[in-house]
Amino acid sequence: YYGAVVNPTSLTSYSTLPRCLLSVDTAGTIEWIVETVESHELQDVLATKGLVDVHVVEIPDGMFIMPGFIDTHTHAPQVPNIGTGGQYELLGWLEHITFPMEAKFADSEFARKAYTSVVRRIIDSGTTTCCYYGTVHLEGTKILADIVHSFGQRAFVGKCNMNRESPPNYIEPSVAISVQKTQDLITYIRTLSKSSIPTQEPLVQPIITPRFAITCTDDLLEALGELAAAEPTVRIQTHIAENRSEIEFTRSLFPFAPHYAGVYDHFKLLRKNTILAHAVHMSNEELDVVKTRQSGISHCPTSNFNLNSGVAPVGEYLDRGIKVGLGTDVSGGFSISILNAIQNASIASKVCAFQHPGHTTASSPSTFANKPLTVATLLYLATMGGAAVCDLDNQIGSFARGKSFDALFINVSNAAGNPSLWGLINGAPLPPTTEERKVLLDGWLERFFFCGDDRNIDKVYIQGRLVGGRSFQAKN
Ligand code: GUN
Ligand code: FE
Repeated sequence: YYGAVVNPTSLTSYSTLPRCLLSVDTAGTIEWIVETVESHELQDVLATKGLVDVHVVEIPDGMFIMPGFIDTHTHAPQVPNIGTGGQYELLGWLEHITFPMEAKFADSEFARKAYTSVVRRIIDSGTTTCCYYGTVHLEGTKILADIVHSFGQRAFVGKCNMNRESPPNYIEPSVAISVQKTQDLITYIRTLSKSSIPTQEPLVQPIITPRFAITCTDDLLEALGELAAAEPTVRIQTHIAENRSEIEFTRSLFPFAPHYAGVYDHFKLLRKNTILAHAVHMSNEELDVVKTRQSGISHCPTSNFNLNSGVAPVGEYLDRGIKVGLGTDVSGGFSISILNAIQNASIASKVCAFQHPGHTTASSPSTFANKPLTVATLLYLATMGGAAVCDLDNQIGSFARGKSFDALFINVSNAAGNPSLWGLINGAPLPPTTEERKVLLDGWLERFFFCGDDRNIDKVYIQGRLVGGRSFQAKN
């Protein structure tokens, strides 16, 4: 691939590379990157790499490539409800909106239809890795895994564990059945998706999904902790400290625990591959536990606003060195797109800054707490941060040798048909120098983050394979 590349490098930095040459092998792994190659040098550089008759994909003027988005938290069966129920807070919303919809996924045909369109839309929105909650149903969740696998998305797919505080038509009858079905799903997904590349993890993987503490009895959480202990590489996902009433109810159900995080910790569910969604209202003690266990937080700002849950102080979490990624949390969140999560993460950080002007943490001046997140940090959260939260930072999140080529072709030209970005490329030729183009690329990235949408996502590559995007759709 040759052309404009945006590549995150840290929480506070990224590279803009207008003339980058990036090589991907047939297995979809990045072989090498030369950051700046002027066009007249291209053939020489390829020759020094021993490549003569190689196919170079030119990234056209008006497009750039960047690593794919990572959605660290979403609910595939809630997409049919998207944009409804905003009058509720969490517990009422679960009862009146969410559980009734999820119960419909007992019907496998309904599940197949819904999930086919859901996964397609999520891929075309630029999400190359997605952490999915299915429903309580084993069959329906296998169907979700099948669809994800057939579309070629990288994903973690989990079946919700729930054996209490759930409606009679949407609950598991016993701990044994809940655990058995979880084991069955793990086995099923493993046979579905074997990695053919020894150094890479399979594209689709199972994830243990105790929905949240409220819907799981002590003995269910204990059994899931044991299952997790026997499967150290299997990720775990759940919700934590999203809403004040939820926290209070959780405390009443687990009187032995010092706090919400202490419930999961007691049952050995907090570890370095655990993904905790929301974490809006966390005490210092809870954050210490999360940090010690090296668990990650999925920041779901759209949902946190929409369900009136609160504003998660993620700047503070970053200052503490806790891993943070972004989640859409559909349909608590009303958009399947990580772009929308980026926009709301920016606004959430500005709300924190507004509420605590000049505030810094006790011992050291803050880098992130109560300050607006920069474009660099937003980019990091949507890519490298998500990768770290998924415990896949060796494999995805940025362009680097040995990582998978999970990439988006972003079209900011008028041809993309998004009037919000019209004028970025107005037909005039791009400036000639690499330095001038770097400045331009910076502007493109910011405008794409705040005004872009799936019209601008021209191609989506996962593990080197073209699997989605606007031009892919036009051809398929
Ligand atoms: N807590 C437990 N289940 C859910 C859910 O489906 N969505 C959100 N936002 N929070 C939850
Ligand atoms: Fe959620």
